Amino acid sequence: MKRIFSGVQPTGNLHLGNYLGAIRNFVGLQADYDCIYCVVDMHAITVWQDPKELVANTREVTAAYLAAGIDPKKSIIFNQSQVSAHAELAWIFNCVARLGWMNRMTQFKEKAGKHRENASVGLYAYPTLMAADILAYKASHVPVGEDQKQHLELTRDIAIKFNGDFGREVFPVTEPLIFGSATRVMSLRDGSKKMSKSDPSDYSRITMTDDADAVAKKIRKATSDSELIPGPEILGDDGKPDEELRRARPEAFNLLTIYAALADVELGEVLRDFEGKGFADFKKALTEVAVENLGPIGSEMKRLTDAPDHVDDVLRDGAARAREVAEPVLREVYDVVGFLRP
Ligand code: TYM
Repeated sequence: MKRIFSGVQPTGNLHLGNYLGAIRNFVGLQADYDCIYCVVDMHAITVWQDPKELVANTREVTAAYLAAGIDPKKSIIFNQSQVSAHAELAWIFNCVARLGWMNRMTQFKEKAGKHRENASVGLYAYPTLMAADILAYKASHVPVGEDQKQHLELTRDIAIKFNGDFGREVFPVTEPLIFGSATRVMSLRDGSKKMSKSDPSDYSRITMTDDADAVAKKIRKATSDSELIPGPEILGDDGKPDEELRRARPEAFNLLTIYAALADVELGEVLRDFEGKGFADFKKALTEVAVENLGPIGSEMKRLTDAPDHVDDVLRDGAARAREVAEPVLREVYDVVGFLRP
């Protein structure tokens, strides 16, 4: 069976982009793949995390996985720091990846900002740890949102170079799975920025635990425009809006795309239903579909995190199963590299 690996950072504020771009897709893949879903706490500490919050956020991401419909009996759910193979393999990949490759990573540049000298070494090495996450399980496919594309290309480069350097096909060349209608959900305040956990404005994102009132308020305040909603004739053969038009109205198309993703319909259908209407009407319908989808997930997350024993059991059991898969891979790598284990 083909193997899936993916991860979400426990850095708080899990949002609609994480859900539509990643977590919701994880659920459906369970039918056809052997799936491993990780809460990447070691990635989280590449920027400062309060230890108590890190614990709470680790449970929150686990609860989101469970509440969204990932079955812990079928799939493996665990947190990264419980399986030491990730850190061990990451070191080897630090010695495989080239500085030139790392220097091209746009996420590091964005996250480190202007004061690059003050960024942690971990933030810089983040992509080699990510490659280790995936390749410790020889995963064939990785479902992610669009923003992770470059990191997955680096993972492929590392696998190819490792195999080439040692003359052995140890690692698969992993395929990214970027699918669904919302691979890049944008901020509700500014259509040129992606929705993110770290945006200082709470109004920029809908979180997975927002209640109906918060969702309604955020959608009401979301930036849109005073033009009417266009008809489906603006879509190209690929079902996407004309790029120039989309660029001219980024916030409008973001809201329309979010609606399509939540209602699980094509964008064309949304445009057919709302053609000629203004955003005031549309926002009411969007609120309804958002609350209908996220409401049950948010309350289940709350139930699971209020009494976290079940969540902790899932992580403990998942880590034991993850180790069973990763340890033989690590031993194979150590042998190939020439690490003596007398
Ligand atoms: P993270 O925690 O930032 O995000 C988790 C997942 O959500 C997707 N995502 C989005 N999708 C659509 N629109 C958005 N605005 C949006 N924001 C986030 C991300 O693409 C991701 O799929 N580096 C990863 C975590 C990671 C990982 C891995 C992923 C660590 N190791 C191995 C896959 C495989 C990250 O920071 O995700």
